[in-house]
Amino acid sequence: MIAKVDQLCSLGPVIPVLTIENVADAVPLAEALVEGGLPVLEVTLRTGNALKVIEAIAHSVPQAKVGAGTVINPESFQRCVDSGSSFIVSPGITNELLDYGVNSDAIYLPGIQTVSEMMEGIKRGYKRFKFFPAEISGGTAALKAFGGPFADIRFCPTGGIRVHTAADYLALPNVMCVGGTWLTPDELIANKDWAGVMRLAQEAVSSATKSGI
Ligand code: 3PG
Repeated sequence: MIAKVDQLCSLGPVIPVLTIENVADAVPLAEALVEGGLPVLEVTLRTGNALKVIEAIAHSVPQAKVGAGTVINPESFQRCVDSGSSFIVSPGITNELLDYGVNSDAIYLPGIQTVSEMMEGIKRGYKRFKFFPAEISGGTAALKAFGGPFADIRFCPTGGIRVHTAADYLALPNVMCVGGTWLTPDELIANKDWAGVMRLAQEAVSSATKSGI
């Protein structure tokens, strides 16, 4: 599991967190992000069409690694896997989700906010976590502090991260990649401005690269 998560996160420094209402937007949006250098895409279960969006991207954009986010119970976990999700992300943890993830073949990134939650995951063998909501939970300072007692644990922070702060997170040794919604502003989606989305992806990649990551 750990090697699979690391491999996934090595594909791009930023995971766009997507909330897509309209299934017709799914493929061009995913193509723009892949073209811009970000192939790992997290589709959140925050719209009624999320599973159809996952299916569409999994089917039509083979260069993308599409996963599901905002997964909060084992039933949704399994539905997302069945719809073609390569990975599953939850904003927090429950005992049920942690146990389900251990027994699933799918890549699972549980979300934690505190050391105690992390320890619940570690108890079951998890060493890779989403850190959410990152900015208001201490941001880079919290992640540096986690690195003391938990040097072998790695994170994908999300929540409040933007292009100008992503590099600060990515510079930390315990950060694998970051996630965020800033790459797909509502206005660009409403205008079907896929070139604009691609530019935001390119900007994210270039700011990660400039900081030597
Ligand atoms: C997530 O689910 O990871 C968050 O919604 C991302 O937070 P952001 O909107 O602040 O990027």
